[in-house]
Amino acid sequence: MGGINPYIKQVEADLPKNKYRITFVSQSPEGEEVEQVVEVDPCGLPYTDEGLPGSVLDVACGHGVDIDHACGGVCACSTCHVFVDKGGDTCNETTDAEEDMLDLAPGLEENSRLACQCIPDGSSEVRIVIPTWNRNQVSEEH
Ligand code: FES
Repeated sequence: MGGINPYIKQVEADLPKNKYRITFVSQSPEGEEVEQVVEVDPCGLPYTDEGLPGSVLDVACGHGVDIDHACGGVCACSTCHVFVDKGGDTCNETTDAEEDMLDLAPGLEENSRLACQCIPDGSSEVRIVIPTWNRNQVSEEH
């Protein structure tokens, strides 16, 4: 699933014109901090159909970085909640629809965003912290 949600106001964002980097910070199952650095090439966008084109989720999914995204990136859940640790001022403004979904997210902070709606313009590096509860987890246990 993925694409655009026709029931919400469309997001306005500037796509990057130059290459830039996103550092994704997550925790390994052993509790160690793991950094994955991705170079975003504007010519390659969109990388997937998960989230808005050029969004943090689109970049993550295109580079094997796990961020949960139960609704497929159409701003209809809050499972893609991340923290924009650096470069938040280079990202598009949150919309009312994103704010509404964020209100449902656990552990809300001032720098909280939905990865599927957050689009950096590429004017500086961005650092994204993925909450431990938002990593795709596969479990065979019942
Ligand atoms: S994946 Fe559902 S709101 Fe982002």
